[in-house]
Amino acid sequence: MGIQNYYDVALNLVKQSGAYIRERINSPKDVSMKSCDVDLVTECDEHVEKLFMDGITKEFPDHKFIGEETTSSGKKVELTDAPTWVIDPIDGTMNFVHTFPHTCISVALLINKVIEIGIVYNPVLEQLFTAKKGEGAFFNGKRIKVSGEKDISKALVMIEMGTSRDPEKMEVVLENTKNMISKIHGMRTLGSAALNICMVALGGADANFEYGLHIWDFAAGDLIVREAGGVSMDPAGGPLDLLSRRYLCASSKELADQVSSLLVQYYPERD
Ligand code: IPD
Repeated sequence: MGIQNYYDVALNLVKQSGAYIRERINSPKDVSMKSCDVDLVTECDEHVEKLFMDGITKEFPDHKFIGEETTSSGKKVELTDAPTWVIDPIDGTMNFVHTFPHTCISVALLINKVIEIGIVYNPVLEQLFTAKKGEGAFFNGKRIKVSGEKDISKALVMIEMGTSRDPEKMEVVLENTKNMISKIHGMRTLGSAALNICMVALGGADANFEYGLHIWDFAAGDLIVREAGGVSMDPAGGPLDLLSRRYLCASSKELADQVSSLLVQYYPERD
């Protein structure tokens, strides 16, 4: 069974999930807290994760999953060489709860721990970002490229507060914001890690970094931004570690290094 077949099945399930998210965003939701009172989940997150996993299992019964909601209800993150779908059913759950329209489903397929497929779909604003390894990145079917910006003083940087209110983590976020703001063109935050990364892929922003996000927040976006010509790495400068909960991407290696050199580092508990 080839990558194109996996992609077609996944895209169809993502579209179905998107239709559900679009229909539910403006209706009342059953909201619960996870790790803290700003880390939210709704019955819609759980519904979408199940819809996607059931659909994949029906077609490819031996495929494995790392899903945000099954993990938060106790399942351990286990990344093996087997074909593994990494799913964030609603990335930007806080936005979804508030009806702020930057929210998406994010799915990636890893085989031998290499990201082969990435799909990020915001059904509210009809933004579909897709990539297959080695075949480029696309936005609503049109090929996209990063800006190529190399100079931090001209960069638009996507940042996030994250969903932890741990005082040490908050201090690092504030310090990095303060250190960077006078050295760049501007900062933006969408409230969805996957969409932040896709803005770099699109060339609308130039860099993004975050500590404390999970593999399901960035795996799909990571392939999309690299297929658009961007680079990703650990925020301290080494190779990206998919389970480290640390992420940096940029439109060029030069810019990624400049962003990295300004950052106070933070090492969350691993996935
Ligand atoms: C969160 C969002 C948020 C980011 C967090 C993520 P969720 O994902 O992407 O923007 O700052 O790190 O956990 O909880 O909405 O799926």
